Amino acid sequence: MIGRLNHIAIAVPDLAAAMARYRDLLGGRVSAVQVLPEHGVSVAFVDTGNTKVELLEPLGADSPIAAFLAKSPNGGMHHICYEVADLAAAAARLTAGGARILGDGRPRIGAHGKPVLFLHPKDFDGTLIELEQE
Ligand code: CO
Repeated sequence: MIGRLNHIAIAVPDLAAAMARYRDLLGGRVSAVQVLPEHGVSVAFVDTGNTKVELLEPLGADSPIAAFLAKSPNGGMHHICYEVADLAAAAARLTAGGARILGDGRPRIGAHGKPVLFLHPKDFDGTLIELEQE
């Protein structure tokens, strides 16, 4: 069911500083900042050729990233995103198998303009998984 690794997301306390490190120290190809108020984040992507690294900075008081950074003030790996060919079929298979989809269980439009779902980390080895429609 899962396909390509679309991205690995890292929560960062200072997006501009993280972008500069990836660009200047690691020599990465870093995108422009995207501000996503409906997700409570500002993001930038580092294109590594085979996948992307998504740098996530909290936006607004009730950002889902704020609680993560309260526990890990230096930042850290937040989630990994796999592509799926059929998100609705994937959701049906997961819920039938007892896995929990976060929120109201319905897809939202993610940072790439495609529908996404998030799966409960307690059901997947302590890892927050995002599924993105191919
Ligand atoms: Co993501």
